[in-house]
Order: sequence, then C-alpha cells, then structure tokens
Amino acid sequence: MKTIKLFFVGACLLLISATLVAQTKPWVVPANFKSMKNPVAMSDASTTAGQALYKKTCTPCHGKTGLGDGVKVKSLKTMPGNMSLSEFQNLADGEHFYKTKMGRGDMTKYEGKLSDEDIWNLVNYMRTFKK
Ligand code: HEC
Repeated sequence: MKTIKLFFVGACLLLISATLVAQTKPWVVPANFKSMKNPVAMSDASTTAGQALYKKTCTPCHGKTGLGDGVKVKSLKTMPGNMSLSEFQNLADGEHFYKTKMGRGDMTKYEGKLSDEDIWNLVNYMRTFKK
C-alpha cells in the first residue's frame, strides 16, 4: 500500500514539474522568420492601423499599454509578459511577427485570422510600448 502511495505522489510531482518546465520553455523562432525584414515601414498610418487592431484583439490579455495586465490574464496559465521591457523590444520584428502569427498555448494563433499586413502593423504598434 505504502509503495503504491509513494509511487502516486512521485508521479504527481513529476507531472507538475513537467508542466512548469513546459511553461518557461524559451520560445524559439525559426531563423527564416527571425531575419525577416518588416515590409511595412514604420509610420503614423501603420501604428494607427495597428493600434485599432490591438485595442480590439490583444488588450484583453496584453493590456492597454502592453504591460501584460489585461482583464483575462487571471484565467490564463501563462503570463503574456511585458512588452515595454528591453527583453521584448530587443527582439527582431520577425520574431514578434512569428509569435503573433503562430501563437502557442494561451497565445492565440492569428494565422488565417489576421492578414500578414495586419500583423506587421501590429508589430510596428508594439514598438510604441517601449519605455
Ligand atoms: C487570450 C490571451 C491573448 C491574446 C488575446 C493575445 N495574446 Fe499574445 N500572448 C499571450 C500569452 C499568454 C503569451 C505568452 C505565451 C508564451 O510565452 O507561451 C503571449 C505572447 C505574445 C507575444 C510574444 C511575447 C514575447 O515576449 O516574445 C507576442 C508578440 C504577442 N503575444 C502578440 C499578441 C498580439 C499582437 C495579439 C493581438 C493580435 C495578442 N498577442 C493577443 C496571450 C494572448
């Protein structure tokens, strides 16, 4: 009986740590995306278009100013992160593009929901969160 109990507790611990590791796993972006050049030049028109989309689509999780404090965050398993920090701002445009397009876990996959141009406008808009 004791062995079975121990085995059960061990299995549970293993499962919990596996989940934790999965959540903190770095998000690796394929090289062909990382090196992508943003085809939409930074401009007021682009950030205005990005802002409209962001407000409608991303705010519930990422928060109004990208701090990761949206109203839905409490119900998520993973944190959306803080887009104003250099950890985020130092990433390439292509990385932001890839993550927005492909998603993972709680982060919605926008492929097929938003056009590439929409996503590039969002990438430009997310640059305005820089502190
Ligand atoms: C349902 C909640 C949710 C919505 C809606 C959402 N996101 Fe996310 N997003 C997340 C979470 C959670 C993560 C962190 C995912 C991870 O690390 O596994 C994330 C991560 C990201 C990242 C990568 C952050 C980094 O540190 O590299 C980008 C870029 C991003 N989201 C952009 C967007 C954009 C743009 C929109 C709107 C079009 C959007 N997200 C909508 C939850 C959301």
